[in-house]
Amino acid sequence: MKRLSQFEFYSAHNIFPSRVSLAEAEALEKYAAVRRSLYERHLHVPFGLLRGQEVLDLGCGTGDSALVMGLLGARLTLVDADPRVFESLDAAFASHGLSGQITERVVSRAEAYRPARRFSLAMAEGYLFTCEDRDRVLRTMLDALEPDGLMSVSFPDELGSFMEFLKKAAFLRACALRDIDDLFGDEAAQIGEALLGRSQASLPNPRPFRLWLHDCICSPFLVLRYCWSAPAIIAATMRGAAYYSSSPSILEVDRLDWYKNVVDVPAWNARAVQGYADRSADFVFGMPVRFRTPRLAARFAGNTRAFLAKLSNWFDTPFRALPRPKASWFAALADSDVPGPTQKALKAYFAAFGAKTWPEFGRALKPAQAVFDLWGKSYHYLVLRRAEHIRRLTRHRAAP
Ligand SMILES: C[S@@+](CC[C@H](N)C(=O)[O-])C[C@H]1O[C@@H](n2cnc3c(N)ncnc32)[C@H](O)[C@@H]1O
Repeated sequence: MKRLSQFEFYSAHNIFPSRVSLAEAEALEKYAAVRRSLYERHLHVPFGLLRGQEVLDLGCGTGDSALVMGLLGARLTLVDADPRVFESLDAAFASHGLSGQITERVVSRAEAYRPARRFSLAMAEGYLFTCEDRDRVLRTMLDALEPDGLMSVSFPDELGSFMEFLKKAAFLRACALRDIDDLFGDEAAQIGEALLGRSQASLPNPRPFRLWLHDCICSPFLVLRYCWSAPAIIAATMRGAAYYSSSPSILEVDRLDWYKNVVDVPAWNARAVQGYADRSADFVFGMPVRFRTPRLAARFAGNTRAFLAKLSNWFDTPFRALPRPKASWFAALADSDVPGPTQKALKAYFAAFGAKTWPEFGRALKPAQAVFDLWGKSYHYLVLRRAEHIRRLTRHRAAP
């Protein structure tokens, strides 16, 4: 069976993920501040250095991020599979007098796009994880970079999305108990609001509830096979890229590490992969979590992944018994510093799925409210640097 692509899903349900009307100067300023916080503070990519540089935005959407890059003086190649996005994009660029910053705009799927130039920065934010051939697109982006150029990718992290999976499972079960088939209709929206409205409203700058429900919870892409992780992306670039930065961070240089201790790209990437493993439970709970032993932490991460794989299949049959994490998952948790009330709420959450009617389910979920109020670190940004150039220089120097 042919799988739906993200832009087909967006067209079918009339979802425009863009949050703000960036034609208004104030909205643009606010959005630019968020992007600066992301790129400069979290990802260590100084905006000033992008002036006059060629930047690729692959999957640019209505151009929110591209517009900020345009304001900084970057020269933009904008690609999207959905031709509808360019109408608002063109209008927004024109209204800010930035149309001249666009080098090229292309209607193409990322999988079919062949770059005609080299870029200092290539971004693929908000969709690449949904592409069947995402590893190949990563390598196409990498090949299109200038030596030492950067590429940034954003994706739902496979462990960090745990809390979203639990929210989705409760929403699907509630709809099943009410015999609601249309997850995008009014009745489903009311159920969603009753279950998740309060906690979604507590997020910083929340999107309109229905848009969030459709894009983040009802989305067919909230299953394990579409989630991604920094280690998987680093592996897919086949040593052509070096870890540069990420949000949340997975690698900080130790304060006492001497800069003369130069490590090569594979060793550097290995440090990032280890950093990810060390933090995986932090991503699940959105707070620092320590286990009694590293083995327990690793087992907890493995069990979480296995549970999410089962839950992803269950999403197709939400009237069946809910899969539960293994007993050793709960045992590892009991040996961690995850707060007692959170652990209790998790147990209440799984128990609530014994309810046979929607009112009973709603009541049974009350002691599990902390699960709905908790947000893991689900959405990650990763920046990689093209590393081939360094390798070539090293080889050159080593030649007699
Ligand atoms: C969530 S939006 C993100 C837009 C923009 N990158 C941002 O971060 O603001 C995802 C965009 O990717 C586009 N898209 C989805 N799948 C695509 C694909 N396979 N190739 C190219 N664009 C795609 C969609 O049409 C949509 O405009």
